[in-house]
Amino acid sequence: MTAHLRTSLDSSDVPGWLRALHTGFLQPPDVSKEELEVRRANLDLDRTQGVYDGGRCVATFRSFEQRLTAVGGADVPADAVTNVTVSPTHRRRGLLSRMMEHDLRAAKERGDALASLLAAEYPIYGRYGFGPATWVTQWTVDVARARLDPRYAGPGCGGRVDYADADEIRQLGPVLHERLRARQPGAVNRTDRWWQLNTGLLRFPGDGRTAEPFYVLYRSPDGSVDGLLAFTADDRWEGNKRPHDTATVLDLIAVSPAAERALWHFLCSIDWVVHIATGRRAPDDLLPLLLGDPRAARPTTHADYLWLRPLDVPVLLETRTYPASGSLVLDLRDASGLAGGRYHLDATPDGATCVPTTRPADLTMDIGELGTVWLGDESMTRLTALGRADEERPGAAALADTLLRTARRPWCPDMF
Ligand SMILES: CC(C)(COP(=O)(O)OP(=O)(O)OC[C@H]1O[C@@H](n2cnc3c(N)ncnc32)[C@H](O)[C@@H]1OP(=O)(O)O)[C@@H](O)C(=O)NCCC(=O)NCCS
Repeated sequence: MTAHLRTSLDSSDVPGWLRALHTGFLQPPDVSKEELEVRRANLDLDRTQGVYDGGRCVATFRSFEQRLTAVGGADVPADAVTNVTVSPTHRRRGLLSRMMEHDLRAAKERGDALASLLAAEYPIYGRYGFGPATWVTQWTVDVARARLDPRYAGPGCGGRVDYADADEIRQLGPVLHERLRARQPGAVNRTDRWWQLNTGLLRFPGDGRTAEPFYVLYRSPDGSVDGLLAFTADDRWEGNKRPHDTATVLDLIAVSPAAERALWHFLCSIDWVVHIATGRRAPDDLLPLLLGDPRAARPTTHADYLWLRPLDVPVLLETRTYPASGSLVLDLRDASGLAGGRYHLDATPDGATCVPTTRPADLTMDIGELGTVWLGDESMTRLTALGRADEERPGAAALADTLLRTARRPWCPDMF
């Protein structure tokens, strides 16, 4: 029997599809009624694919609408890919390739500027034109070594830190997050559903969430909510009654350095907490340098995170901003025929144009390399050294770095 691909599903397909999703991610395969309800409400069945063999779902794939922040703060429409699994019984027969091809074509027709995903393993998605665009670092802070003032009694800047409940977070969090998103290249939008799932309003058994976390808000001296923190603590004691808690950050967003400083210092000053697990931060997060001894923050993970696949090169290059003026002709190879071609980028600090051209190329590369450099994190000089981009005109890689790279690294705070 041959497996056949269905590029959209019916509501009655969802239980079997979810069972295949669990199986593909090596989770217990049973799907509770609560999970079915919560997940079904969120599936766009026209963008949910399944491969069926003898009536059994053996592969899953879906995508959804997302907004992704470019350098400079404007956002672009993204095709967010998720829930990708192929059953081990059907692996390496091209099922992922078929589902991906269908999804990317549909995204291109819809007018999405790019596709985005978080890759479970590095080697999977490069072949489809995705490149790693943001990285994350996680630290564990040894609070005793952090050399912060042991008499710390709150932010000294006139701002304040308060505990909050889930209702306040659902009310104040979205506004704060939109302010963050408008200034954080690599950030993606959070839907109402995101806030409901992450503040306990929507739950299902096995959703991986703990009991209610601690929520904290930072308010600036003028009263505006500029920072939000959600964390858990594990309530551990060692030996002869010595508290040994680890505080684990679930979410920490801040729209000012004062808010960022206040929230990290607050965490480092909680009695009983000896370690802080920071969660996924930008690799150039301020945290280590906010500590009296930055070496108290030990990196535990440093890895690629958000992968991007350009679909509309002119929109991507005209939406982001540039710190300097310059002209480049990029020759982009794309075997799928979705976004390749030769483009002339004319960038200035006041705006840019990007149009197809027949001029000689300055730089030649695969489309995924544009996904890697677009948010400013990777250097074209490194890519040419690696043989991943070819410099056709001397100085073109250095010019690309001047135009594309950013002072702070991009960061995607969310998992999807
Ligand atoms: C990753 C996964 C979806 C791949 O599905 P698949 O149907 O076997 O992939 P395909 O057969 O379409 O593979 C296409 C190509 O990618 C390669 N490839 C696929 N998965 C790969 C992996 N994990 N590592 C290296 N190469 C991989 C294949 O070898 C094949 O190469 P070829 O064209 O040179 O022969 C599947 O193995 C899986 O479900 N893994 C566990 C869950 C997971 O990691 N999901 C991804 C979440 S982001």
